[in-house]
Amino acid sequence: MRVLSNPINASLQLVVILAGIGLAQAADPIQTTKPLCPKPTQDMAIEGRRAFLRMNCYSCHGMNAHGASMGPSLVGTESGDVREAVLQGEDGGMPSFKNNLCANDIRNLTAYLQLLGTGSEPTFTHWWEDGIPSK
Ligand code: HEC
Repeated sequence: MRVLSNPINASLQLVVILAGIGLAQAADPIQTTKPLCPKPTQDMAIEGRRAFLRMNCYSCHGMNAHGASMGPSLVGTESGDVREAVLQGEDGGMPSFKNNLCANDIRNLTAYLQLLGTGSEPTFTHWWEDGIPSK
């Protein structure tokens, strides 16, 4: 190790190594960016609909989760499948959302998806709406 025996070269190498570590950390924004979480309402299915909109699930599963060209219909999805798919993703093109989840998102998404096809599922279109119809 002739290079390391020279103190100037050795400290230069250290600088290069440290810069490399810094870059490697900066290159992973998912680990350091916290999602912007909306203020919850009282209704789990409404919160689930908001989560579905906020995380762009509709871009693949269709605006009302009844399926579209990129993703299957979620009508009749089992609750265990929601947790697994959202946390881990699925090989067939479903990404993991584990770094984007706000508190209770899985529970709320499950409540929302279980209402699909019953005629009482919320259908509002912006996650910042509270989804409660004004009478
Ligand atoms: C990039 C497209 C895409 C996005 C975005 C997406 N999905 Fe998926 N999702 C898929 C595909 C494709 C499958 C089917 C995967 C397979 O069969 O391997 C799937 C499967 C699922 C399943 C499993 C269905 C079952 O019956 O097992 C659930 C639940 C699900 N998605 C919910 C969601 C939720 C909730 C979101 C938003 C947090 C979301 N998906 C976002 C593409 C997507």
